[in-house]
Amino acid sequence: MKILFCIVFGMISFLPAYADEFTNHQQHMSVIGNDSRQLLNYPPDVRVYALANMRKHLQALAEIMDAFANAKYDLAAGIADSRLGMDSSGAAGCRVDSMKMDMKTMPMSETSHLDHQMSLLMPEGMRELGQNMHRSANEFAVKAREADKDSRNVAAAAIALARIAQQCVACHESYRMQ
Ligand code: HEC
Repeated sequence: MKILFCIVFGMISFLPAYADEFTNHQQHMSVIGNDSRQLLNYPPDVRVYALANMRKHLQALAEIMDAFANAKYDLAAGIADSRLGMDSSGAAGCRVDSMKMDMKTMPMSETSHLDHQMSLLMPEGMRELGQNMHRSANEFAVKAREADKDSRNVAAAAIALARIAQQCVACHESYRMQ
């Protein structure tokens, strides 16, 4: 009787799992089938540069999370400011000063040239989302330094850290490069 119960119960509990898997698969297919994100008009060299910049963003975020998880709040703040913050080199393509650079009068390195191109081709809505993300990194840094001084501030810093990742997601939901 016990064995029969186990078999029947096992089958019943398997069914919802199967149904979930099927729904996930359908959702996955519909994402592939109708991608409504706006395609950016980046030439190949700008796209390769922008994607490499994105991978650096992810690397920085991973390092921030690692430092934070090990209670190295000051280190986490430093990485956030210098590698993701509004004044970091990775934010250049989202800054208006890159857009205003005059290529004829200013000698330009290859990276500033690509940042300039990226900033010119970036839709206004995307620039705003980009700046929000870079600013959220600076805001996290402030909170992380407060956590470094007083551990009662750790929870607020953790919320600010989650906000950075939310800003990455917001842009990825709306734009694509390829
Ligand atoms: C302002 C917009 C924007 C923000 C903010 C943004 N991204 Fe992206 N990211 C993009 C776009 C557009 C792509 C290309 C996606 C596509 O073509 O499917 C991309 C691609 C990527 C990729 C793929 C790189 C590759 O080589 O294919 C990674 C990784 C990534 N982003 C990480 C991040 C992380 C981490 C953050 C936040 C810290 C972030 N991005 C914030 C716009 C953004």
